[in-house]
Formats: sequence, C-alpha cells, structure tokens
Amino acid sequence: MNILVTGGAGFIGSHTIVELYHAGYNSIIIDNFSNSEPTVLDGIEKIIGVKPVIFNGDCNDADLLSTLFNKYDIKGVIHFAASKAVGESVANPLKYYHNNVSATVTLLSVMLKFSIPSLVFSSSCTVYGEPDLLPVTEDTPIKVASSPYGNTKQICEEIIRDTVAAENNFKAISLRYFNPIGAHESALIGELPKGTPSNLVPFITQVGAGLRPELQVFGNDYNTVDGTCVRDYIHVVDLAKAHVAAINLLVKSENNNQKYRVYNIGTGNGNTVLEVIKTFEGITEKPFNYKIMPRREGDVTAVYADVSLSEKELGWKTEKSLKEALVDAWRWQLSLK
Ligand code: WQD
Repeated sequence: MNILVTGGAGFIGSHTIVELYHAGYNSIIIDNFSNSEPTVLDGIEKIIGVKPVIFNGDCNDADLLSTLFNKYDIKGVIHFAASKAVGESVANPLKYYHNNVSATVTLLSVMLKFSIPSLVFSSSCTVYGEPDLLPVTEDTPIKVASSPYGNTKQICEEIIRDTVAAENNFKAISLRYFNPIGAHESALIGELPKGTPSNLVPFITQVGAGLRPELQVFGNDYNTVDGTCVRDYIHVVDLAKAHVAAINLLVKSENNNQKYRVYNIGTGNGNTVLEVIKTFEGITEKPFNYKIMPRREGDVTAVYADVSLSEKELGWKTEKSLKEALVDAWRWQLSLK
C-alpha cells in the first residue's frame, strides 16, 4: 500500500519512512530539502535495504502533487512538510503562512481532486500554549498562539477539520507532538539542525562533543521542581511508530467511524532541563558545561501530555525512556564527522 510522505527526508519524516517500511507500507516522499539533506536517503536505504522513492518538490506545487497522485495509487498522506523554527516564524511570518498553511490547502485540494481518503497531519503541543492544568488532554483549551509557527499549526488543524466535515469520503488525524528527541539506534539517521540548534537536545549533544563551549539554560526561576522548564521529551522512533498507528487506523481499520481525531503524542511524563542535563551526564560520565541565563521569550513553564486517548484509540504508547533517547542522540552526534 502506497503512502505519500511530505517532508519525508526530515528528522521525524525519515524515521517514519523506516517504520512505515517495517509495517509493510511503500512510501513515496516529496521534500524540497529546505530543512533536510539528501544524504538522509542513504541512511534510510542502509537501514531498510531499499532506496526510497523521492521527488524533490514543494507541497505548494499542485502540478507535482497531481503528477504523483496520477503515477502512484496513493492510499493516504502523512504531511510533515513545514517550517518549524519558532523564532524564525516571528521574524518572517509570511514564509510560515506560505510554507505551512497555503501548502496544506494546496495538498488538501489535490487530495480531494484525486479522491485520496486519508491524511495524518503533523501538529504540535504548541497549540496548548501555557496550559492551566497538567497533563494536557486533547480537550485542553487551545490558547492564542505564542508564535506564527504555533498559529500555523492551529490554523491547519481547523482547515483539516472543516475539510473532513465537508467531505463524505475523507478522514484525518492530527498528531500533536511534544518534544521529539533522539535518533535511530543505527546512528544512520538522526537530527540535522542547520546552524545553531534552537532545540535543547541537539545543543546538549554538540556541547558534549566539544563543538560548543556550554549550554545556556534559559531560566531557572520558573515555578517547577528545580526552576527550569518542564517538557515531554519523546523518542523520535516512538513518535514515528505513532504515525504508523494513525495511518493504520485510517486506511486499514474497518470499524473506524471517526472522521477527524486529534491525539497527543508524548510520553506522558515531564522532565526539567536540569533533569535532562543530569541524565546526559550519567551517559557520558563527564561533567556538562552549562550556564544559567535569563528566560527565553515565548517559553512556557511546563507542558506534558495525557496520552490515554492515543493509547486507547491508536493502540500506541511510547516504549523508550528519556535516557534511551539521549543515548541514541549521543551515538548519532558521535557518528557525525
Ligand atoms: C526545550 C526547553 C528551553 C535550548 C519547540 C517548539 C515545539 C516543537 C519542539 C516543533 C525549553 C530549554 C532550549 C537551549 C535551553 N517543535 N532550552 N537552552 O521550545 O519546548 O519546543 O521545539 O513542533 O513546537 O516550540 O523545545 O528544545 O527549544 O526547548 O535552556 O539552548 O529547553 O528554554 O525550556 P520547545 P526546545
């Protein structure tokens, strides 16, 4: 069964291609390599033994999408392709509305034109903003987005919801990711942040590898157990498997009468920045260089998931721990030249 994976050469996309293969699916990738490297395809091939089918292109290109849907019998789409840097979205919002929102409208339009019945959408816990209650469930009120990036995720969820409601033969699932970290255990694929990493774990592994002198910890005056922010760090392979579970529910389940569902994809546990650092020190068995700095604009104090709905309806839950994710992230960092 063929699945179109937009952004399939990216961090989460590449790991999902591997898990889709193990689940018996054929993936067709469309990626414009704006936030990924073609070398990822070599890594995927070494893991699964098959060269991925990929088209270098953009989801705003309706003609290319039409060509793909004409050429392949696509049963469903997993839509990762998007810009995802929170800070950049504040500086350049129109790039985010073009890449994330208009591209999703184009993709949906072409899907309907070719009667492609199923979509899994890459959403984010950022839609919850600073939650009043923890853990967050799928019914936790959506807050006004704290960045254009977060707003694009909220807008796309609403566009997809409305499209499903208007169509008879179209189902969709939005997966709200928490904080994806780690790498495939083979160290053949992993996270390749361009330039200075904005996310915590790739910055930590670069400090550990001596590529950067120290980590700046953005604030230790939050109302948490040690003053640093709490996040739900999920192994990227567990996250990839959640996408397989979602596409299975859409394309294989006979009795799935749910046209549109949203699921939290996290571990259900929260860890502070200092707890992540301490775990990493336990892995490298070396002291870790960090410095407490002022808070980063836009950071929420704490967010982590209630994952009972995704466990119940997707039949999925995380299998890997924070430590395992950091071990895999560290092995991947050491594999980079
Ligand atoms: C985690 C914690 C920082 C870097 C973002 C997006 C979210 C999702 C994941 C796409 C925070 C602290 C970080 C550093 C630090 N992306 N930190 N020093 O901000 O929770 O989520 O990435 O979907 O949508 O918003 O992740 O890794 O940037 O930060 O102290 O150098 O680590 O303050 O508390 P975040 P992050």
